Amino acid sequence: MYNEKVMDHFCNPRNVGEMEDADGVGQVGNPVCGDVLRLAIKVKDGRIEEARFMTFGCGAAIATSSVLTEMVKGMSLEEAMEVTNRMVAGALGGLPPVKMHCSNLAADALQKAIEDYKGRLLRQEAV
Ligand code: FES
Repeated sequence: MYNEKVMDHFCNPRNVGEMEDADGVGQVGNPVCGDVLRLAIKVKDGRIEEARFMTFGCGAAIATSSVLTEMVKGMSLEEAMEVTNRMVAGALGGLPPVKMHCSNLAADALQKAIEDYKGRLLRQEAV
């Protein structure tokens, strides 16, 4: 069902865990299956320096979270906002059609984390 790259990211997920000093955090859930993904990013000079995730979910959700944290490293925030679930699934060499919805979690969490970062910046500027 899953290709080798998906299995590798599922069995050896990269960048798992909390990030104490995150600049932005995005958490999303899939209301249908109940899976939850929390993504934290560190931003420097307008680029994502580091990303870490915690996923309570299926193998596809874990693999897409893992590959996303590698994909976005070094991206500008503008580039990262353009990341779609298809790009995430593509970075894994594809997902079975019935599991494509699982890749939405990673892309959505990334956008939320960037929005959270931007919101924090605005609040800091307002102080
Ligand atoms: S089955 Fe819930 S995200 Fe995959």
